[in-house]
Amino acid sequence: MAEHALITGGAGFIGAHLARRLLDEGVRVTLVDDFSRGRQDEILDQLALRATLVRHNLTEPIPEGVLPKDVDTVYHLAAVVGVQRTADSPGRVLRTNVLAASNVFDWCDEARPGTVFLSSTSEFADGAAQSGLASFPTPEDVPFLLARPHSTRASYALSKAVAESMLMYRAGQTRVRIGRYFNVYGPRMGHSHVIPQFIGRILAGEDPFRVYGSEQTRAFCHVDDAVTATVALSRLPGDEPVLANIGDDSREIRIADLARLLLELAGVSPRLEILDSPSGSPERRLPDLSTLHTVLGARETVPLEKGLRQMLDWYGAESW
Ligand SMILES: NC(=O)c1ccc[n+]([C@@H]2O[C@H](COP(=O)([O-])OP(=O)(O)OC[C@H]3O[C@@H](n4cnc5c(N)ncnc54)[C@H](O)[C@@H]3O)[C@@H](O)[C@H]2O)c1
Repeated sequence: MAEHALITGGAGFIGAHLARRLLDEGVRVTLVDDFSRGRQDEILDQLALRATLVRHNLTEPIPEGVLPKDVDTVYHLAAVVGVQRTADSPGRVLRTNVLAASNVFDWCDEARPGTVFLSSTSEFADGAAQSGLASFPTPEDVPFLLARPHSTRASYALSKAVAESMLMYRAGQTRVRIGRYFNVYGPRMGHSHVIPQFIGRILAGEDPFRVYGSEQTRAFCHVDDAVTATVALSRLPGDEPVLANIGDDSREIRIADLARLLLELAGVSPRLEILDSPSGSPERRLPDLSTLHTVLGARETVPLEKGLRQMLDWYGAESW
C-alpha cells in the first residue's frame, strides 16, 4: 500500500509544491484547505486530478469522516501568512493559526499518523535578534522572546511558538518534526513577499525603483530545496522529536543587491530610490543549518540567479 500524506494548507504556495513532489514519488496525497488564500488555478486543477482535495476551515474541529484516517504523515502547513495580513488582522492570524494547529493535532490524537510535520518560521528568532540575543547564523535553540509583545507583528511568531509547543508535547505519541522556514521563494508564492513585489514593479516599469530596507540582508531558499528538506525531515527515522531550520545559507544578500540582481536579469536599469525599512522588519536573517545538514547530508541548492530567472519568467507569464 502506497504511503498516504495529508497536507493542510495544501492549496497554498509550499503546500502545492510539496503535494506535487509527493505525488511524483507515488505517494497518495490528500489536501485540506479552506481556499482563503490557496487559489483555484491551473496548478491546483492539475493536483486535483491526482490528489484528493477537501475544503474545510481548520479553525473548526474536523468532523468525523471529513478526512481519511489511514494517513501515514501529516504535514501541517495551513496558516494565515504574510506581513501585510499580520499588520491588517493580527487577531485573525493568532486565532486562525492557533486554532488550526489545535484542531489538526487533536485530529491526529485520534487518527494516529506515524509522523506529524509542523511548518514553523524564522520569525521565531526575530525577537531574540532584535534584543541582541541571537547569533548569526541563528541556531534552533535561540530563546523565544517578543521584543514588542503587543505589536501587530508579534502575533504571527507567537502563533507559531504556541503551535510548536502543542506539537512538542505530543512527542512519544507521534514522531514530531518541526521545520522553521527561512524566506522560501518560488513560482506561485503570491504577490506580498519582497521578490514578487520587486518583480511586479519591474514588470510595471517602475522608475525610480523603490527599495525599502536596502541594507537589510536575507538568505533566500528556493521552494524545491524547502520541499526536499521538508520531506527528508519528515522521513527521518527515530522517535526523538526533531526541530530544524529549513533554508539556504549559501548566499546572504542585501536587499539593494537583490533589487540590482533582479533588474539586471530583467534587462532594465531604473534609478534606485532608497527608502526606510518596513516597521519591525529584522535587519538580518540567516539560518544555522547544522541540523538540516545532518539530516540531508551535503546537497546542492538552486542558485539564486537561476531561481530569480525562473520567477521572472513565471510572473511575467502570469497576468497581474
Ligand atoms: N513562505 C515562507 O517563506 C514561509 C516562511 C516561514 C513559514 N512559513 C510557513 O509555511 C506554511 C506555508 O506557507 P505558504 O507560504 O505556503 O503560505 P500560503 O498562504 O500560500 O499557504 C497557506 C495555506 O493555508 C490555507 N489556510 C489558511 N487558513 C486556513 C484555515 N482556517 N483552514 C484551512 N486552510 C487554511 C490558505 O488558504 C493557504 O492555502 C505556513 O504555515 C507558513 O506559516 C512559510
